[in-house]
Amino acid sequence: MKKISALINTKDVKGHISPEIYGHFSEHLGRCIYNGIYVGEDSSIPNVRGIRTDIVEAFRKIKMPVLRWPGGCFADEYHWKDGIGDKSKRKKMINTNWGHVTEDNSFGTHEFFDLCEQVGCEPYLAGNLGSGTVSELAEWVEYCTFDGVSPMADLRKENGREKPWKLKYLGIGNENWGCGGNMRPEYYADEYKRYQTFCRNFSGNELFKIACGPNANDYNWTEVIMKNLNKWNTRGISLHYYTVPTGDWSKKGSARDFSSDEYYSTISKTLYIDELITRHSEIMNRYDYENEIALIVDEWGCWYDVEEGTNPGFLYQQNTMRDAIVAACNLNIFNSHSKRVKIANLAQAVNVLQSLVLTEGEKMVLTPTYHVFDLFKSHQDGDAVYSFVENCEAGENNKVPMVSCSASVKDGKLTVTMANCSIDDEAEISCEIAGMNVNSASAEILTGDCHDLNDFDTPEKVKPAPFSVSINNGSLNMTVPPCSVVSVVLE
Ligand code: AHR
Repeated sequence: MKKISALINTKDVKGHISPEIYGHFSEHLGRCIYNGIYVGEDSSIPNVRGIRTDIVEAFRKIKMPVLRWPGGCFADEYHWKDGIGDKSKRKKMINTNWGHVTEDNSFGTHEFFDLCEQVGCEPYLAGNLGSGTVSELAEWVEYCTFDGVSPMADLRKENGREKPWKLKYLGIGNENWGCGGNMRPEYYADEYKRYQTFCRNFSGNELFKIACGPNANDYNWTEVIMKNLNKWNTRGISLHYYTVPTGDWSKKGSARDFSSDEYYSTISKTLYIDELITRHSEIMNRYDYENEIALIVDEWGCWYDVEEGTNPGFLYQQNTMRDAIVAACNLNIFNSHSKRVKIANLAQAVNVLQSLVLTEGEKMVLTPTYHVFDLFKSHQDGDAVYSFVENCEAGENNKVPMVSCSASVKDGKLTVTMANCSIDDEAEISCEIAGMNVNSASAEILTGDCHDLNDFDTPEKVKPAPFSVSINNGSLNMTVPPCSVVSVVLE
């Protein structure tokens, strides 16, 4: 047992937590879309226009605020006109990035907007700057958002959608330093300016244009982008960072069989995102004094070796309590950087990388990561407030701070989320709450051995449970078991 003291000051507001920090990502990759979200109208699995009902319900429950689509690297080769109109006539293509499987384009623009409408989330389109054209992207915006007579609006109507959709988030390129064209930042910045010029605000729709930002610690990329772009043409720049336990992309480590050392190295590598966000934000601060360009953590999460016997191009991996701790640490970090970070999308929503849900035929399980998003959802739209933990260290070779924490206030309620990252010790936490008189608290916990997971035989091994906390003289007191995530709402 380790004694930990902490402090939360509800009067010291650090930023507003945009709900989109709790965002997600869905790519045409493995079984994320096909045999995942989209089963087709003729499936015996309950669906609405081909979209799985149980997945929509799961996404609604965690208040999924935004969903990015169609990639990833897939977006860099996606031609949206292949995915509209009569499905039997849609072009078939090779998914060159992900297993060279046939993409039949049966899930396209209309299906994606339908999914977002069913879920109640903002659509985020990732446009193709790598292998597409300026007019192709401009026409996609016209197709989706123009409410009048025009070639693209007429085409949309012919395809059954009379009224335009609302489209806020538009990514102009994806990983253009890599799979999106292997560009230099100077070259990309010029291309970005050309592409974005022709993406118009039609019929009252206002685009929030997102430029391709850095890969992990490529600070030069951020510097060049910030030097060349400005708030008039850019609302956000993206950051991609994946947690790879071994740090070796050729042998990343298993999702379910890992040593204590590998556990702590995973947590240590995931916490590095705090430094990445801090340093990229510092560069942004030098160009954007008014904080008008957001940092968008477009892709984050754990990337392990694929499950044995599965297609290496499908990136299917299990999800344990280790992933729950990773998710909690990242979300706490995003909350604390909410002044600059306005969207973050976990990679990916279904059956790919650090998923929210896994499916097998008609079965679906909610992963430990899903439950963390459920526990954290009351942070959405809150004001992030100051929190400080007088921390101990956990781990032997890879030492990490034992407790991760963030706090926010909304409608007079204080939400506190904490993770005990130790897999050995309980944390006896005494947290002073300043600036607010607290009378009552309700709490939930997600806990287990770090290897615990939900599978199709035991879908509810890991799930949230009520948790007992006490309040004494303005302090929140609780004893948090090892490898746990706790959410407390105080009034
Ligand atoms: O999420 C998987 C891939 O990771 C995405 O397609 C790409 O953007 C990133 O490299």
